[in-house]
Amino acid sequence: MIDLHTHILPGMDDGSPDAACSVEMLRRQKAQGVEAVCGTSHYYRRQNSIEVFCQRRAAALDRLTAALPQGEVLPRVLPAAETAYFSGIGDHPGLERLCIQGTNTLLLEMPFTDWSDLQVEEVSSLVLDRGFRVVLVHPERFCASKGNRRKIQQMEQLPVALQVNAGTLLLWRTRRLGLELLREAPIPLLASDCHNLTTRVPNLQEGRRVVQQKLGGAFLQLLDQNAMRLVEPERPEHP
Ligand SMILES: [Fe+2]
Repeated sequence: MIDLHTHILPGMDDGSPDAACSVEMLRRQKAQGVEAVCGTSHYYRRQNSIEVFCQRRAAALDRLTAALPQGEVLPRVLPAAETAYFSGIGDHPGLERLCIQGTNTLLLEMPFTDWSDLQVEEVSSLVLDRGFRVVLVHPERFCASKGNRRKIQQMEQLPVALQVNAGTLLLWRTRRLGLELLREAPIPLLASDCHNLTTRVPNLQEGRRVVQQKLGGAFLQLLDQNAMRLVEPERPEHP
């Protein structure tokens, strides 16, 4: 079991504040059967260059690794990013470094405004021209806009993954939409998007229970297979 979307790397963003919290989050993940997590800290173009972000991320992973208790086996942490859409992303160089390490899987957070056709074009260019395996994170959070809901349906014509947050399935107000998006996604995914130990906790297991009840065990297996594929290298490594 893999949790593809977490803010577990310490001191990177509004997620885990320090290594002690990160270790405890990893313990909670392990107790739920998670074997690997992606450290998808927020990447905002206006805050950091990709180079600076990657340096900060490596330092955060070092702090976490140093804090791991000896002899305790905890889930692996794969460096990655939750890349916030920015204008020009379609042909921006260096995005490979924001992918889940060793893959061409790019987690993309769309803007919290009404999306333009041009923005959707840029996403399709990332998929079709540049060959990224794009994961649109928590699409449910953008669906209050009817226009965005329609654009998500347009984007479903592409081989994109839609990653619904486990928490969305735990609230009756949002459960129906979360399940609907999972059902219609070309590549459905579930992840925790956990930030801490209080308000946005590791809760993948609870979300999976809802999937099991409402969509069945075979669908749960499909979610696991999709997640596995996205952390595997897409292209052979060059020597
Ligand atoms: Fe996130």
